[in-house]
Amino acid sequence: MTVDEKKELYALLRTVASSLYGCSAREYEQEPVFSADVPDGPAAQPAPEYSSPSVHDGAPSSLDAVAATIASCRKCGLCAKRRSTVPGTGCTSPAVLVIGEGPGADEDASGLPFVGRAGQLLDKMLAAISLSRTANCFIANIVKCRPPNNRDPLPDEMYACRPYLDAQISLLRPASILAVGRIAAQNLLNTSEGIGRLHGVFREYNGIPFMATYHPSALLRNAELKRPAWEDLKLFRSRLETLVPGYAEPFNRERGQPV
Ligand code: URA
Repeated sequence: MTVDEKKELYALLRTVASSLYGCSAREYEQEPVFSADVPDGPAAQPAPEYSSPSVHDGAPSSLDAVAATIASCRKCGLCAKRRSTVPGTGCTSPAVLVIGEGPGADEDASGLPFVGRAGQLLDKMLAAISLSRTANCFIANIVKCRPPNNRDPLPDEMYACRPYLDAQISLLRPASILAVGRIAAQNLLNTSEGIGRLHGVFREYNGIPFMATYHPSALLRNAELKRPAWEDLKLFRSRLETLVPGYAEPFNRERGQPV
């Protein structure tokens, strides 16, 4: 795409976002500096102003290298207002990779995923099926920087961030993926189907068994979703037991329970 095409698309997305999500245009005033994917012509190619390192510049050798790349990323407008980047945290050879939507205020302040109210509930949901971020999970998000006012990440933001998630997945090689919430499920499955239809069904993402369930924030808003979410988690646990027999042992050891 040329720079002008990107600018046009950005303006269109800004209009769509403000009508869909009621975001003030001010949030998008700071248009990212675009560079062209293909040359505009011999004289027209500007020096790219954001040449943030890309995970495509070579296979990332470690999760730390991915996190360092994310820390200096300016591939989308979310970099303008972030306090911290939130690459993800957890075990480096996890049974499960949990994927949420994007950092909120608490995560932006701390640099860690799922540390606010929703995060505390997520930890309880995971513990109910013998998972934790310290024993056998890694927790990451679709976007690594906070969308202003906790709005949904925009398509171009999710697109820009995807190589980081994919790099994390190839380094972590999780036995399975649990997507929490509509945004993560839709984005990873490349569908606009609602979470009501997507949850509780095993699929694959890049060849890895994948299931979606409700986002803990949704459960905090609507207690009626707790029952179907629990059914999803039980299904996830039984599949995980076949994928990684003994997956719960590190969790039980951590809790001082017999393994
Ligand atoms: N919600 C998310 O989806 N991710 C976080 O890290 C925090 C809240």
